[in-house]
Amino acid sequence: MSAPAIPGIERVLFTEEQIEARLCEVAAEISRNYAGRTVKLVGVLKGSVFFLTALARHIEVPLKIDFLGISSFSNKSGSPGVVRIAKDLDESIEGDDVILVEDIVDTGFTLRYLLQNLAGRAPNSLAVCTFLDRNSRRIVQVPVDYRCFEIPDRFVVGFGLDYNQLYRNLGYVAVMKPDKG
Ligand code: IMP
Ligand code: MG
Repeated sequence: MSAPAIPGIERVLFTEEQIEARLCEVAAEISRNYAGRTVKLVGVLKGSVFFLTALARHIEVPLKIDFLGISSFSNKSGSPGVVRIAKDLDESIEGDDVILVEDIVDTGFTLRYLLQNLAGRAPNSLAVCTFLDRNSRRIVQVPVDYRCFEIPDRFVVGFGLDYNQLYRNLGYVAVMKPDKG
C-alpha cells in the first residue's frame, strides 16, 4: 500500500492484509486453547472495538462479547495516574473463561488495573489478548497471553487506535508524524 494522503500520518506500519493474516493466526491459537469451552471476549472501549470484532469472526469456539469503558488521568508530571471504570460490563463474568481484549499495551498501568478489577469478579480463567504491544515503554509488568504485533516506540493510529478521537476507522495501522503524537 502506498503512503496514505492523510495529514499527520508518516507511514503505514501494518497493512490491512498483514493485519488480517495475523488475526487469523491469533484466532486459531485461541480456538485451539479454548476447544470445548465458551470464551467471553471483554473489550476495552473504544480502541479495541475494531480489533475485537475482526478477531471474533475468526474464532471457532462458542463466543460471547461484553465491553467496559475506562477513564485514565495523568498527573502533572505526565506519569500515568488513576484508571477508573466509566462504563461497566453488562453481565457478570463469574465462572466465565474471559479474554480481556486491548488495543495496545503501553506502560501497562491500564492493563494492571483492569486485571486486578476483573480477577476480583471470580472468572474461571482470565487471559489477555492485545492487538499491539509496545514493550519498550512498559513500566509495570503485566501478563500478555496473545499479541498480534510488537511495535516500535512511536505513536500509532488506525484499526481502532486514535489521535484526538480521529483515525480509528483506518483499516491499517500507521505511524503519526513526530509533532502529532
Ligand atoms: P497504558 O496504561 O500506558 O498501557 O495505556 C494504554 C492505553 O493508552 C491504550 O489503551 C491506548 O488507549 C493509549 N495509547 C497508548 N499508546 C497509543 C498509541 O500509540 N496510539 C493510540 N493510543 C495509544
Ligand atoms: Mg485503550
